[in-house]
Amino acid sequence: MTVTVDRSVEEFTAAPRQLFINGQWVSAASGKTFDTPNPATGETLAKVAEGDAQDIDRAVRAARSAFDDGPWGRLTPSERGRIIWKIGDLILEHAEELAQLESLDNGKPYPVALAADIPLAADMFHYMAGWATKIEGNTIDISVPYMPGANFHSYTLREPVGVVGQIIPWNFPLLMAAWKLAPALATGNVVVLKPAEQTPLTAVKLAELIAAAGVPDGVVNVVTGFGETAGAALAAHPHVDKVAFTGSTEVGRLILQAAAGNLKKVTLELGGKSPNIVFDDASPAAVEGAANAIFFNHGQCCVAGSRLFVQEGRFDEVVEGVAQIARSIRLGPGMESGTQMGPLVSDEQLRRVTGYLESGLADGATAVTGGARHGDTGYFVEPTVLTNTTPDMKVVREEIFGPVVVAAPFSSLDDIAAAANDTEYGLGAGIWTQDISKAHALAKKIRAGTIWINCYNVFDASLPFGGYKESGWGREMGREVLNNYTEVKAVTTLL
Ligand code: NAI
Ligand code: MG
Repeated sequence: MTVTVDRSVEEFTAAPRQLFINGQWVSAASGKTFDTPNPATGETLAKVAEGDAQDIDRAVRAARSAFDDGPWGRLTPSERGRIIWKIGDLILEHAEELAQLESLDNGKPYPVALAADIPLAADMFHYMAGWATKIEGNTIDISVPYMPGANFHSYTLREPVGVVGQIIPWNFPLLMAAWKLAPALATGNVVVLKPAEQTPLTAVKLAELIAAAGVPDGVVNVVTGFGETAGAALAAHPHVDKVAFTGSTEVGRLILQAAAGNLKKVTLELGGKSPNIVFDDASPAAVEGAANAIFFNHGQCCVAGSRLFVQEGRFDEVVEGVAQIARSIRLGPGMESGTQMGPLVSDEQLRRVTGYLESGLADGATAVTGGARHGDTGYFVEPTVLTNTTPDMKVVREEIFGPVVVAAPFSSLDDIAAAANDTEYGLGAGIWTQDISKAHALAKKIRAGTIWINCYNVFDASLPFGGYKESGWGREMGREVLNNYTEVKAVTTLL
């Protein structure tokens, strides 16, 4: 049985979707479009305008003049906050439509999109709406030793950075747009957003809702297109003040190079190879927790618990438990009821992930379960548990971004801290134990931006998220992200 697609979704995918620039829907300057496929079938889902450097330039100019001269900067913080709140409300009002679009375009199960992606996206706007009225500077009592006897009044202002280019991935398309747009707007910036070419549809729909919420023209512009053309042009544009990127570490480096031209500010949320550590004294819930850590969203999570470490005494039991869950997961199209895991997002990701599986098996790893593509239509991969790996294998070192976990035993707390940190990445980690001292001692030793104790994949708009090491620069969400979207100005008066 298949979940019925709403009329509004059918209409949305039937017409070619345009770019949203300066409050107007426009075709790409080149007139070109590209197809976004349904990953469950490989068939075209919708046609989307293929923006390139010319369109990015149009969008950046619109954003620049909206920032420099438009009504956006004249709104009170309270007015701005209420508009941002309204975006959250409109997302909830359109939750089913957005969840269907997300499921069709990305492949994730519809109930998951409806229960997680969409409400989390709405909550990010609601949470950030509150910050609009709470952006504050300080007054500072200064000393100035070379001006004895002088008195001063000094204070800081926190101002928007200006025109922000945002480049987002395909694993949580709407949610990543929300993570990026909501704090940028709360702090008074203007944005050119470039969604991932694999999953452009919910960002286009979101642009409609943003306009309906009353965001002035030019404040949010959405340019669909490819990374090498539209994305690269945005990262390099001389009138963009900041670029915020989520995606591969490889492209993160390209963004940095492109940003060097005008030294734009850069924040990066990149890959991971996060350890999930189960101690002998962990509760039985650790087994399901370990499975959820890797198989949620088909393993297409930057923070997936892709390196499972289990203390020796429980290794066989936990690995077999995770393998059993893997075997029981029902694969199918995201819009089919009963589906627990959908396809990977694209043919390219299917080839990438199965390439890793082949490499792991060729290097001598054992597939306790899974190990190959599932079926021959769509981009499905079997949930896989690999053992007998060594720390230097590609499957252990590199981000696979699919439903593939490598499992290894460990003996003591000291061994595990070193093994957990034996990676270029530092995004997240899970710790499963009933001994709170051990848990907190290990949490301190792990060099990663997020640590979950007796849970995994717990996200909240108020919790900062981001990476140590090669997992990125800066933090998303929470109060922390506001620093990445503001400049600080120190003002001093001689009294
Ligand atoms: P990617 O890093 O190429 O794509 C992410 C975004 O960057 C997309 O919007 C893309 O259009 C854009 N982009 C690509 N090349 C660009 C360039 N030269 N300049 C500016 N923007 C550019 O990721 P891709 O190829 O889709 O996936 C490859 C691997 O990246 C995955 O297997 C996974 O390991 C990792 N990845 C990590 C994500 C995360 O959440 N940290 C999300 C997506 C992918
Ligand atoms: Mg790429």
